[in-house]
Amino acid sequence: MAKLLVEKSGPLVGKVKIKGAKNSVLKLMAASILAEETCYIESVPGLIDVEVMITLLESLGLTIDYNREEETLEIHPAELLKCEAPYELIQKMRASFLVMGPLLAKKGIAKVSMPGGCAIGARPIDLHLKGFQALGAEVTLGHGYIEAKADSGLVGAEIYLDFPSVGATENIMMAATMAKGLTLIQNAAKEPEIIDLANFLNEMGANVKGAGTDTIRITGVEKLGGTRHQTIPDRIIAATYMVAAAMTRGDITIENVVSSHVKPVTAKLREMGAIVEDSDDVIRVYTTGPLKAVDLTTLPYPGFPTDVQAQFMALLSVSEGTSVITETVFENRFRHVAEINRMGANVKIEGHSAVIQGVKELQGAQVKATDLRAGAALVLSGLIAEGVTEVDEIYHIDRGYPQIEKDLVGLGAKIRRIEEK
Ligand code: EPZ
Repeated sequence: MAKLLVEKSGPLVGKVKIKGAKNSVLKLMAASILAEETCYIESVPGLIDVEVMITLLESLGLTIDYNREEETLEIHPAELLKCEAPYELIQKMRASFLVMGPLLAKKGIAKVSMPGGCAIGARPIDLHLKGFQALGAEVTLGHGYIEAKADSGLVGAEIYLDFPSVGATENIMMAATMAKGLTLIQNAAKEPEIIDLANFLNEMGANVKGAGTDTIRITGVEKLGGTRHQTIPDRIIAATYMVAAAMTRGDITIENVVSSHVKPVTAKLREMGAIVEDSDDVIRVYTTGPLKAVDLTTLPYPGFPTDVQAQFMALLSVSEGTSVITETVFENRFRHVAEINRMGANVKIEGHSAVIQGVKELQGAQVKATDLRAGAALVLSGLIAEGVTEVDEIYHIDRGYPQIEKDLVGLGAKIRRIEEK
């Protein structure tokens, strides 16, 4: 089990370049199942989750060349596409469930293991399944598997999502690309990753309109070809480094970022008193004085991202005054509170909110990453805490940050990775 040893590091200063977005690339990979020709995906970050998706696609019969140096993927269609995604792979990563829509569209049948709950909540998939049913699939559950079947093909339909779920929007959008006629997804998620997926599908020959708004219109086509596509930059990693600049009172310039994707984070940092200078694809964050408490509520995009909630909590825990964070997207995404309090923070959970009383300093301690973003928040906390912070269970961090210690060390951080047998 690897761990990170983080020492108090002083202000982080310099430039950092953001890689492709995990939460986009995994869906682009799943969408490649739909293609009749090769798909080339660029800016593919070196992450455990990408490796899991490669294994899954290979198990379905696709052939994949991953050039880890160049960060490019070539995904060749299967000669004989299998339609079953086994438990061993789905339980490793919930995003694996996103193969269901494309398999159903292409094969008319898909059998995928039911994903379990995870550290941040139960995370049901009812909205995905309602969507498949609306498109005419017969969905049955048994022995831990979900089987969806549409013997005479999927048929376009009007689908209203009770909640703008990212995964459900993506799965239904992919399923509908080859359904007969028009599909409308209403109250769709509007995340940038949805737009990236829609662009990818359109480049393959699909007809998807309105991605990024709350109504997506998909007109079914007969078949999809290949494409070459550049993954969008990871807005959550960019936001994590924006928080790192504010937290260490540093001065970080973030390159290869889409500034409009991190607007809610920019707005909150400015409200706290940090200086954020942004152009279309570069953001500089620094501070000139103390940072003040702010309240925030996590919401679907373009609201404040739940994936930056833990990092912001770390920042607010050393800012002046009392802040309240309300988490509305996931029901159990405060497991990092106990860990950050071990470092001397003063955070109390009250229902879906966390009340953060700013303290003067944190102290290094042994803590564990309870999920991916919580892990990043603890690393940031370690950078300003007195002494040494040992962050355990960092495999979570490795699922979403291709090179967190390399990036931060490049900005002046003192971080070491220890591999333990
Ligand atoms: C995606 O998860 C991201 N994961 C998450 O990233 C991110 O936190 C989340 O979107 C919200 O932005 C990937 O893209 C791989 P949802 P997803 O469906 O698609 C409920 C990270 O740290 N819901 O929008 O699973 C669900 O339980 C992470 O990178 C239903 O009730 O998110 C949750 O409370 C973790 N029924 C809420 O909706 C459903 O059928 C939002 O989930 C589907 C979802």
